[in-house]
Amino acid sequence: MSGGNATLLKVMDVRTFCTQSTVLIVAGKGGVGKTTMSAALARMAADAGLSVLVVELEGRPGVPDAFGHKTVLDYAGSVLSAAGAGEDTAGEDTAGEDTAGGNTAGGNTAASSTDGGQSAGTADSGAVDQQIAKGTVQARRITPDDALLEYLADHGLRRVSKRLMSAGIIDVVAGAIPGIRDILVLGKIKQIERSGIADLVIVDAPATGHAMTFLSSASGLLDAARGGPVRTQAADVVELLTDPARCQVALVTLPEEMPVNEAVDAAYALEDSVGIALGPVIVNGCYPDLSGLGTPATEAARAAGVTIDDPVADALDRAGAFRQTRQALQAEQIGRLGRELPLSQLRVPFLFSATIGPDELHQVADVLAQAVHALPDPDPDPDPAGGGTSGRQGAAGTGGGSGGSGGSGGVKDSGTVTRPPS
Ligand SMILES: Nc1ncnc2c1ncn2[C@@H]1O[C@H](COP(=O)(O)OP(=O)(O)O)[C@@H](O)[C@H]1O
Ligand SMILES: [Mg+2]
Repeated sequence: MSGGNATLLKVMDVRTFCTQSTVLIVAGKGGVGKTTMSAALARMAADAGLSVLVVELEGRPGVPDAFGHKTVLDYAGSVLSAAGAGEDTAGEDTAGEDTAGGNTAGGNTAASSTDGGQSAGTADSGAVDQQIAKGTVQARRITPDDALLEYLADHGLRRVSKRLMSAGIIDVVAGAIPGIRDILVLGKIKQIERSGIADLVIVDAPATGHAMTFLSSASGLLDAARGGPVRTQAADVVELLTDPARCQVALVTLPEEMPVNEAVDAAYALEDSVGIALGPVIVNGCYPDLSGLGTPATEAARAAGVTIDDPVADALDRAGAFRQTRQALQAEQIGRLGRELPLSQLRVPFLFSATIGPDELHQVADVLAQAVHALPDPDPDPDPAGGGTSGRQGAAGTGGGSGGSGGSGGVKDSGTVTRPPS
């Protein structure tokens, strides 16, 4: 990976990358690192001075953990990192909900209209969608129930909404209208996006299978509902998902056979059935290339002026061989991913640490930032003839793996993919 090309090419800066669409949905197979990458992308964007909201759907602790917080995310949300905190080694700041309070709401959003809009974080319904300060990361959990409660409150049903909820109306509605839960959540995300309270909204999506249902519900409902609020909501969501200037997906994968297969399939499925634009693929867990692994341990020890006994040498030789094999397998899968999915790759190393906390998050965010810098700058003049939108650029790979999509499949201007003819 020489930096030579980067100095010649117009390279992408992190702010440009992060603002190519307001909503970035981080998707992929379970366990590949979606939550970790959501947190790291948020860290990177906040370090570049942007205001960031991470949306978590399942109430898992991964995102707050990565920022060093024990907070349980709720609908109103918490500040995970205040402006400037990116420079410190984090971990000591409390899970403050007050930090954002210094910034008064920039605009009245539909959702906050029923609230006084004073303090971020404690409202139990009709959450306060306050402007997020630059350089700050907030996170919140959005559930269909909360979103419905807020929707009802905003439509003059605040009094009865809680009773309706406790009577389990969401289940009745969800049973009658499949996909309504997804529409409620995505509708809320759309409303956050429109309100402009954050420069970047990162959605930590469910694992691939569920994510496909989650993201295709809106178009399904659009076909099914003839009119009324459900159709309106579905139409708004479809509009969001299919506009690359508003919403894109970053797929996360591991450089292994099954995850790569799944990422490739997911990419085409997202394109075909959702019509959503794809940003670069994040290849997580790459083993840093160690050189000299082929040298026998005894020989390396002798050169270093130490002596090791046979069992140690044997163990080292086997460990070296194992690592070499893994490196080769990963390189093969990264190459295949590049050929089968002509999108840029952002590669993140495997971290040999027990947990991912603030220090590791900084590390990953810095690696991502470097990888982003190596991406070519998107064309500042959209080409009307090409019908191109200014989506997250995906034309070239970083490093060796995916450079040039050649004749196999194509990458359109918006980073969309077409399957090569088979
Ligand atoms: N680059 C990495 N190096 C080492 N461990 C990682 C890395 N990325 C993620 N992990 C760990 O892998 C596990 C799964 O990651 P997570 O982000 O929760 O995946 P997902 O959200 O896709 O299920 C977690 O324990 C996380 O700490
Ligand atoms: Mg997760």
